[in-house]
Amino acid sequence: MCGIVGYVGSKQAQGVVVEGLRRLEYRGYDSAGVALAHDGTVAWNKRAGKLANLEKAVEETPLPESTTGIGHTRWATHGAPNDVNAHPHLGRAGRLAVVHNGIIENFAQLRAELEAAGHELLSETDTEVAAHLLEQEVAAGTDLTTAMQRVCRRLEGAFTLVALDGQDPERVVAARRNSPLVVGLGEGENFLGSDVAAFIEHTREALELGQDQVVTITREGVEVTGFDGTPAEGVRYHVDWDLTAAEKDGHDWFMRKEILEQPRAVADSLLGRRDASGLLQLDEMRLSDGELREIDKIIIIAAGTSFYAGMVAKYAIEHWTRVPVEVELASEFRYRDPILTHSTLVVAISQSGETADTLQAIRHARVQRSKVLAICNTNGSTIPRESDGVIYTHAGPEIGVASTKGYLTQLVACYLLALYLAQVKGTRFGDEIGEVLDQLDEMPAHIQTVLDAREQVHALARQHLGTRSVLFLGRHAGYPVALEGALKLKELAYIHAEGFAAGELKHGPIALIEEGLPVLCIVPPRGRDQLHDKMLSGIQEVRARGARTICLAEEGDDSIEPYADELIRLPRVPVLLQPLVAVVPLQLFACELATAMGHDVDQPRNLAKSVTVE
Ligand code: F6R
Repeated sequence: MCGIVGYVGSKQAQGVVVEGLRRLEYRGYDSAGVALAHDGTVAWNKRAGKLANLEKAVEETPLPESTTGIGHTRWATHGAPNDVNAHPHLGRAGRLAVVHNGIIENFAQLRAELEAAGHELLSETDTEVAAHLLEQEVAAGTDLTTAMQRVCRRLEGAFTLVALDGQDPERVVAARRNSPLVVGLGEGENFLGSDVAAFIEHTREALELGQDQVVTITREGVEVTGFDGTPAEGVRYHVDWDLTAAEKDGHDWFMRKEILEQPRAVADSLLGRRDASGLLQLDEMRLSDGELREIDKIIIIAAGTSFYAGMVAKYAIEHWTRVPVEVELASEFRYRDPILTHSTLVVAISQSGETADTLQAIRHARVQRSKVLAICNTNGSTIPRESDGVIYTHAGPEIGVASTKGYLTQLVACYLLALYLAQVKGTRFGDEIGEVLDQLDEMPAHIQTVLDAREQVHALARQHLGTRSVLFLGRHAGYPVALEGALKLKELAYIHAEGFAAGELKHGPIALIEEGLPVLCIVPPRGRDQLHDKMLSGIQEVRARGARTICLAEEGDDSIEPYADELIRLPRVPVLLQPLVAVVPLQLFACELATAMGHDVDQPRNLAKSVTVE
């Protein structure tokens, strides 16, 4: 949510900053802006709309040469997404510029204070308040680093702030509280970014910052302090993916590329998980086997697609370990006074590792002395850092706003966690665990089979141009898949879509069925006869009422043929692993339908990746 870039070095900052913004645009795309230190003051430009508008503006009227700059791509919180509210915001005299991600909660009070002192604020944003406060400090002779520390001590809420002072052009100063910021370490140049994509083209060496820290970057180095000025140190790490991972690489959309990358992503997330004797090992886990043995309840917290991964995890963990699992939306969890003890394991699933609701939920859990395990795709992000342990997924950067490979690799991590708990607690024999691990190893090839048959799904999607509503039905582990399929269609094609547990049909949703309504049905594998046959009854019931049934069923399942208007074949896999293949046609369907409708699937309307505000 909002992308932030900062640069000090010897290159032309405009190019570096705008390029960084292009790579961060998925974080917000309501407006964009850039500010450069120049001649004792600040040169800037900002434009409402997508980054292309800013790029055009600075191409037509280039900003003056400068080797120090900051930039911002916005997802609006305070104030409409127009030119005035776009970042950067300037201080009263225009010598200092600020970009910001987050919400300054006490901004109304600070604004009133500034206005009483004669400041005129031009925008409706909370950010402009910080610009005026900072400039007031530097105008009084305080250096920018100290000014940032002082101002941050007065701010409430969540924020990343990045500032430059035209009269101190050799440094950029930033601060973070509950909002993402990483430092890129170069040779004779340094960078700031909301995530490493901002500077991956220039360096893969990064510095992770802690909470309530201020960082100053110059050409020569990086200095970190607390808000109180106490020296601090960031944690250095190497980014293990490169520029090509953050590029479209010949694809028309990042989302399409990321869907096609799923076999690789799943394989990478499984890599190196077994030791020489075949036992499952989770190196980054940081929770001891003794601690895990004591766990008697698991609560999974997450948002959106990650929540649906958590719902699948419940089936797997309970089946393999017999430990009861609750799955809860992070935004609900912390406001309902959940019952947590030291033997409760809270599992936080987050692709970005920065989702504000999930972050606040794990803090709540830790205060109650529960152990927290993160499942996360982003190295150096806040959620794993604040957790007791972590299982990293290895999807590589996910840039399309709608999660695809992030989701599949979360499922893999959830299965691994379930099996590891079964191994530690002895609820499954080693050979049973080994068998499931073997089956997981086969999944990349199965996912590839589904992808190879994508033209059928694409053609089907194009037949549904003009469809106003689609339902998704599933049972057991197929139920969360139905919910995920519906979410993908909503967020990408802006079509009404709902997922239901097939067993619930008769309790209400069947009233929605009307002639021609497309209903996508995820049919469980036949090995689970009861589930499979019950699903078949549900399909017959909706079809009898006029629905057009599009069934996803495993190879060789002939029983479904009489009831399917359209049949998409899935590889034969065990029931608990079926989500890994069943969700893929649903991703393809949503992506193709949305692009055929002319929508931007990488940047759907009103959305942004990484929701860092509540
Ligand atoms: C949907 C989607 C979102 C995210 C949700 C959680 O396609 O991407 O629903 O899954 O915002 O994000 P993370 O996993 O980063 O916490």
